[in-house]
Amino acid sequence: VTFTVEDHDGNRQTVEAPDDMGLSLMEVLKASEYPVLATCGGMALCATCHVEIVEGENELCHATDVELDQLENLPAYFPTSRLACQIRISPLLEGAVVKLRGEDN
Ligand code: FES
Repeated sequence: VTFTVEDHDGNRQTVEAPDDMGLSLMEVLKASEYPVLATCGGMALCATCHVEIVEGENELCHATDVELDQLENLPAYFPTSRLACQIRISPLLEGAVVKLRGEDN
């Protein structure tokens, strides 16, 4: 699956990731050397993997209550904010645009 990542400087880059390995978006962002701390290791506890889904949000599965609780506690929270560790890499992500927001927390 191919999607676009926008970094903190506004630079966009296409990222390709396998969608059959059960990876999370957070894991792929880290593997692609984006500055995602992921302090909690993907447990929806730290919110350092905060991203904003700029395009394609309607295609994705909705955030769980646990995820929403974390997001709503962030000082900078957008209508399409998500925790990257809670998004499974799947064909639904094809063509999406994901903006890194972890630094804004
Ligand atoms: Fe901690 Fe996603 S890695 S909330």
